[in-house]
Amino acid sequence: MKKTIKELIESVSGDIAFPKIAVKILKMFEDDNLSAYQLAKAMSVDPIIAAYVLKVSNSAFYNFANRVKNLSDAIALIGFEEVKKIVVMVSTKSVFSTADFFDDILWEHSLAVAIASSILNEKLRITDEGSGYIMGLLHDIGKTVFKRDDNERYTKILKESYEKGMPINRLEEDIYGYNHADVGSYLLDVWNFDQSVIDAVGFHHLSFINAKKEFLRGAALVNLSDFIINLMGIGKKTPQNDLSLMNTIPSAEFLGFYEDEPVKIVNSIYKKFSSLKETFE
Ligand SMILES: [Fe+2]
Ligand SMILES: [Fe+2]
Repeated sequence: MKKTIKELIESVSGDIAFPKIAVKILKMFEDDNLSAYQLAKAMSVDPIIAAYVLKVSNSAFYNFANRVKNLSDAIALIGFEEVKKIVVMVSTKSVFSTADFFDDILWEHSLAVAIASSILNEKLRITDEGSGYIMGLLHDIGKTVFKRDDNERYTKILKESYEKGMPINRLEEDIYGYNHADVGSYLLDVWNFDQSVIDAVGFHHLSFINAKKEFLRGAALVNLSDFIINLMGIGKKTPQNDLSLMNTIPSAEFLGFYEDEPVKIVNSIYKKFSSLKETFE
């Protein structure tokens, strides 16, 4: 018998959990009067998050002249929005496993789409900085749920999509009756994420042809970022050569996105992606 999305998520809830401390820290950002001291104090409770904030602050990604020695300095130097991204990134990393080839490319793909979303969001101003990044990072989290539930069955789907370049959401729908975007948005709802993030994840595989609704802009941002990362060949067997395709897809049109020099945007994504990936290795 086929599982419902609810049953699927319940079956993996012991393995997949977003750290409670991270949810608490993210909630703190809703307070306009949040101080660097409060934030440092909350983060210092979790040694892994604290260590990563320092590690990322000291990485080539930021390239600071001096060593960042403590959390308060890190927050002051990189800013609240960056800290928010790191907290989610570290927490997400613990959700993604690293057992095999497909786990690795799923993580790389997610990191790359997060960077692309945040770079595009800077231009398009769809949401706040941290949220654009979070939408990208979590957009395919539903794939992790499928994989944890039944590794063998889902790996077959991943393989088919990877080898033949088939759209994975269609393959999922054939077998499960729903796709990873549906599963991801359900999971993020359980985890109490902001509705804008839930929508961006839930609708990222829409066609966006003649899209008009304002609330779909986050999903379109993810769709476009996903497309660009696939064009670049990150997590794909074969990259595409024609970068200008990024200007022609429906989500780009819906967002009013047009890039005269696609190679420029691709290079800036790649540079950030490489240094961030290194930090997590
Ligand atoms: Fe997806
Ligand atoms: Fe994706």
